[in-house]
Amino acid sequence: MATNSSNGNHQTTTKQPPMPSPLRFSKFFQPNMRILVTGGAGFIGSHLVDRLMENEKNEVIVADNYFTGSKDNLKKWIGHPRFELIRHDVTEPLFVEVDQIYHLACPASPIFYKYNPVKTIKTNVIGTLNMLGLAKRVGARILLTSTSEVYGDPLVHPQPESYWGNVNPIGVRSCYDEGKRVAETLMFDYHRQHGLEIRIARIFNTYGPRMNIDDGRVVSNFIAQALRDEPLTVQSPGTQTRSFCYVSDLVDGLIRLMGGSNTGPINLGNPGEFTMTELAETVKELINPNLHIKTVENTPDDPQQRKPDITKAKELLGWEPKVKLRNGLPLMEEDFRLRLGVEKIKSS
Ligand SMILES: NC(=O)c1ccc[n+]([C@@H]2O[C@H](COP(=O)([O-])OP(=O)(O)OC[C@H]3O[C@@H](n4cnc5c(N)ncnc54)[C@H](O)[C@@H]3O)[C@@H](O)[C@H]2O)c1
Repeated sequence: MATNSSNGNHQTTTKQPPMPSPLRFSKFFQPNMRILVTGGAGFIGSHLVDRLMENEKNEVIVADNYFTGSKDNLKKWIGHPRFELIRHDVTEPLFVEVDQIYHLACPASPIFYKYNPVKTIKTNVIGTLNMLGLAKRVGARILLTSTSEVYGDPLVHPQPESYWGNVNPIGVRSCYDEGKRVAETLMFDYHRQHGLEIRIARIFNTYGPRMNIDDGRVVSNFIAQALRDEPLTVQSPGTQTRSFCYVSDLVDGLIRLMGGSNTGPINLGNPGEFTMTELAETVKELINPNLHIKTVENTPDDPQQRKPDITKAKELLGWEPKVKLRNGLPLMEEDFRLRLGVEKIKSS
């Protein structure tokens, strides 16, 4: 079991952070916080943008290549004077003058990240290098959205940040899992070597409105199946567990982490643990009690259990999730109904 106390909880930097670029003080400088969100057209990114835009002192720039994201998710901000949308692939360098970078760009669903694994690893490695280069040039603070997948199929339960993980380096999911692990390494090397201000969030399964409908993630799958009157397909054995965090809670955690003084890595997720069969039963009960539940074959390297230890997030960020699964699922159902054009049958 690989656990270790040196898990990168640096309060202080080993070097002074780089000075912000002098351009920041040019005559065009506005006294706002200018924030770059890579992957801001995606599920979590677009909810983060909504929250950041609520603060009238923020200017927000989104850089996204629309691989899994969509302009639709940001349509209410397009044309807003404090908002800018750039079609950009993070595997290419980006030159913008910003104070903070939320680096989310990376497909999160297995269907999409396995579609072009070489591109996925490039996005994680070259994309993160490019964003770290940008942060270094302009003296910006950078937050990486890492993942619970860095723990692989964990041998420690629940997973604290000090656990080093149990990851297959050559499997079909490795482009994502190992890609994120290298991204974390790069973040800490820039921190130690160049004094960059870094923040790392290890996100556990998150759900909510604007998830891609057919993206193979279990909550979106079940809700779409329930609304289409299809059987809920539970991957065998059905006893594997996951924890589900509602997106507004997650965004709150990301903003606290960026604003706080701890580098992380910090787990952000909901410790409520459900087996896949329990999740299917809950969706059935809340959305469509007539559904059948069907067991199907599992995908390789699917972790058997996942549950975050959020002691650090509680202590260091004063954060814990508030939205219960039973309250979050109906909000997501509403969004999926609108997008699928399925009306709710009113009970008489
Ligand atoms: N949703 C979850 O449960 C979860 C869990 C753990 C970690 N995360 C992490 O959070 C981040 C956001 O996840 P999400 O669920 O919103 O996924 P998503 O797929 O909805 O969003 C990812 C966004 O990144 C963009 N993107 C992908 N590759 C890019 C590239 N090369 N250049 C520019 N843009 C690119 C996509 O178009 C999309 O808008 C990801 O880094 C993901 O790894 C998510």
